[in-house]
Amino acid sequence: MSTTETRWGSGANAEAIAAWDGPLYDRFVRFRHVLTTGLAAHGEEALRLYPPRPGDRVLDIGCGFGDTTRRIAGLVGDAGAATGVDASERFIESARAEARDAGVPNARFVVADVQSTALDGPYEMAFSRMGTMFFANPVAALRNVRSALVPGGKLVMVVWRRREDNAWLYRAQQIVERIVQRPEQYDDPTCGPGPFSMSGADTTSDILLHAGFGEVALHRCDIPVLIGRDVEEAIDLVMSLGPAGEIVRLLGDRAAHLHGEIDAALREGLAEFITPDGVVAPASTWIAAASA
Ligand SMILES: C[S@@+](CC[C@H](N)C(=O)[O-])C[C@H]1O[C@@H](n2cnc3c(N)ncnc32)[C@H](O)[C@@H]1O
Repeated sequence: MSTTETRWGSGANAEAIAAWDGPLYDRFVRFRHVLTTGLAAHGEEALRLYPPRPGDRVLDIGCGFGDTTRRIAGLVGDAGAATGVDASERFIESARAEARDAGVPNARFVVADVQSTALDGPYEMAFSRMGTMFFANPVAALRNVRSALVPGGKLVMVVWRRREDNAWLYRAQQIVERIVQRPEQYDDPTCGPGPFSMSGADTTSDILLHAGFGEVALHRCDIPVLIGRDVEEAIDLVMSLGPAGEIVRLLGDRAAHLHGEIDAALREGLAEFITPDGVVAPASTWIAAASA
């Protein structure tokens, strides 16, 4: 347990949680139609490779709006249950309301920092679509997950692979960094280690082994994602979320006069991804699996 004190509250993840419960929640709401559609294909591939069994109790780590939790609740059926856990109260409030409206009684949702809170197991499986990359201490967090699994229980997590194979995010970061610098002083909270913290196969497999998991397997998944219905929306997305979006957000008004220049450079940088079906970019993830 951490006793770290920060201006955002106590705990090693306090700043990241303030970011997810604040500006990032607002941005996920705004871009949800793009984000969850794009991420869905990678999550579905993980569930195709490692399907939960009917009757399983499954933990969905960093569940966000809970669409994967509801999907898993359907797969495990009435005899099983899906528990979505997220450190952001606002994500969990949305997830609860949506599960209630959709009539999914075997999905439940809990507000908790996965790194520091007991997770009320046991579960046969823990799943995560992009929800494990933001812990200050991923080994501690995944050790906590492991202790909530039954012996032999499975962890399946989808995480971004290397930046170069997710050019829409990385190129946007490089373009923004050519024009502005990440500020040393800022008022907004940041999201923690960031989306590429588990992109290295060796790092990620070591994290899993140090957390006490065995039988680690990493499956590369390449499925293009829609990043905007048109180039304006794609620019808006990368200037709002991800590494480029974080730099722009932290700079706030200090970079306002450069937005036109950034916009023009991004328009050029993202042009190759424009298709008749919108802006579609290559995207690459690891589907990492391990046994408790
Ligand atoms: C990229 S979003 C993914 C959301 C969802 N799984 C999806 O695929 O749409 C990351 C999620 O992890 C959550 N998160 C970040 N740090 C967390 C922590 N320490 N404990 C629990 N959840 C956390 C965030 O609040 C956010 O909802």
